[in-house]
Amino acid sequence: MVASAPAPLAVPVMSPVQPVAGDWSVLPSWLPVPGMGVLAANSFLLRGRQPMLVDTGLLAVSDAYIAALTEAIDPADLRWIWISHLDADHVGNLDRVTALAPNATVLTSFLGAGKMQVAGMDASRVQTIEPGTRIDLGDRELVPLRPPYYDAPETLGFFDLHDRVLFAADAFGAVLPDAAERYADIPRHALAEGLRNWSSLDAPWLSQIDPRRFAASLAAVGCLTPLATLTGHLPPVTGDLGPLLEDVHDAWCRPAAADPALMPFSLESALAAVAAGSSRARGDARLHDIAAPGPSVQATATPASLAR
Ligand SMILES: [Fe+2]
Ligand SMILES: [Fe+2]
Repeated sequence: MVASAPAPLAVPVMSPVQPVAGDWSVLPSWLPVPGMGVLAANSFLLRGRQPMLVDTGLLAVSDAYIAALTEAIDPADLRWIWISHLDADHVGNLDRVTALAPNATVLTSFLGAGKMQVAGMDASRVQTIEPGTRIDLGDRELVPLRPPYYDAPETLGFFDLHDRVLFAADAFGAVLPDAAERYADIPRHALAEGLRNWSSLDAPWLSQIDPRRFAASLAAVGCLTPLATLTGHLPPVTGDLGPLLEDVHDAWCRPAAADPALMPFSLESALAAVAAGSSRARGDARLHDIAAPGPSVQATATPASLAR
């Protein structure tokens, strides 16, 4: 009898809470990504001396999320709720959680607090995280940090000095063919491709930065030597982070990463489309010449040259 392939995920689902490392657990859920596969949407629970929830999951699985959380811990025991950034997949159940957790203070960045206010969310229990500080949780300190890439400028991750756990927010996420319970279960080629695809969508600016500086950021992450890496969009990475860092490096620090053809919404691509349209409309080949594919695009297409 031939085993049938699992049916594609049609709606977001919540998965059971899993231990990760030290005092950390993951509350995993999965989102279908039409035409591409599935994406993990994780939040995390620290059951230390001062318990902390990191992000608050998807609204689409709200009842299942709250059930999983309350099974894992009495929310009244939560002392902190860390909000990495204000994207919907990270604050989906914030209102419900804060209502159940009257003793919790919300930790987020200055910009994150501002976005909460703009969105009409309750910011009265927010304590903003200041650059260069450490967060004292009684039995451990967290060092706030900006992950090597992200999709919202308020994003803050951290390094837990006690358990040597890195929380990287949206960095290192990957869209996968199927949901995976463990990082080790993901085929390497699927991980590399999914990581490249997702980072292209979620942090398209990576194609515009200096690859040497980005490589230095990745190297700095490697020097942290985390025992586990928590990311919003991949099962927790336990053990050596090196292969994953290599995948990110291969995706964005190689010469091919700068190819405008790989970025269909890039300004270079838009210029080529404008040039083609202008040429057809006016019989003017000048813009088309300027926007010809290749290195000359960046060298010659300036506002001044277009205005001549
Ligand atoms: Fe995000
Ligand atoms: Fe996210």
